[in-house]
Amino acid sequence: MSVKIKDLTVTFKNRVTAVNHVDMIIPKGIYGLLGENGAGKTTLMRVLTTVLKPTGGTVSLDGIIYGDNTYEKIQKKIGYLPQEIDLYPNLTVRECLEYMGELSGIEKTVCSQRIDFYLQKTSLAAHQKKKIRQLSGGMKRRVGLIQALLNEPDFLIVDEPTTGLDPEERIRIRTLLVDFSKDRTVLFSTHVVEDLAATCNRLSIMKKGSILYSGGIRELLEEAKGCVWSCYAENEEEALELEKSYHVSAKQYVDNGLKLKLLCEKKPDADCRPCEVTLEDAYIYITNMKDY
Ligand SMILES: Nc1ncnc2c1ncn2[C@@H]1O[C@H](COP(=O)(O)OP(=O)(O)OP(=O)(O)O)[C@@H](O)[C@H]1O
Ligand SMILES: [Mg+2]
Repeated sequence: MSVKIKDLTVTFKNRVTAVNHVDMIIPKGIYGLLGENGAGKTTLMRVLTTVLKPTGGTVSLDGIIYGDNTYEKIQKKIGYLPQEIDLYPNLTVRECLEYMGELSGIEKTVCSQRIDFYLQKTSLAAHQKKKIRQLSGGMKRRVGLIQALLNEPDFLIVDEPTTGLDPEERIRIRTLLVDFSKDRTVLFSTHVVEDLAATCNRLSIMKKGSILYSGGIRELLEEAKGCVWSCYAENEEEALELEKSYHVSAKQYVDNGLKLKLLCEKKPDADCRPCEVTLEDAYIYITNMKDY
């Protein structure tokens, strides 16, 4: 399953262009979507789920072009975890999932087996009799993810699936998504850069509705190579001077002063040495320093 997006534009009634002439190919496997708040990730995802009609451009899923007479067919192939999900507060976890399975037309016994499987995978089995309103934010997020997985879609779209999850659950969910992406396509948006570093090897970075980068993570790291420096400042004043002149991707107190990670095309005018590029550094580099 591959998804082709061509010249896609979404302009809302208030004239905000949230997605601006985007071209993108999402191949089989797990694909990351990164971008600052308001970059257009959710809007793009809503178009891909058919919830929102674009102002211009086309989307196709394995050659099926999105349009009024294909929406139903496409919807059957898609699972969606929205950024903000409304579940039924007075149903129990199990009742809620059974109801959602019914709405998707999944046969009852198959649905029940899948619910058991995914409750187990998301560590929610012990909570299945709790009412949705009694759940914590992270638990609700996991119920939302199960509803997206229930019809075992060919194309899974997950908008910040790891938000609000504790470290252990984040790792479990990431692993679940990677396992699920075998022979399928998963589009994964997040602000947690390390979640993408741990799951995908391809991604797109959005800013102000446009795509700044699409490609491999290794190639992305390569782009920022030679631009990341580890520096020491003796005191806060010295550190502030560096912060005024450079993009800082990390700052911490150490025994004899402060350690900073600076992003700069040339060696900064300070006591520093080149250091290894992380995905976070490369993201800051692409979104703030590279000219397009
Ligand atoms: N229904 C709407 N009507 C008008 N403007 C909207 C609507 N939905 C989103 N926007 C605007 O479109 C832009 C993109 O929003 P979007 O929610 O797609 O960003 P995002 O990348 O998902 O951000 P975040 O990381 O905060 O979730 C923003 O400027 C937002 O204010
Ligand atoms: Mg969003």
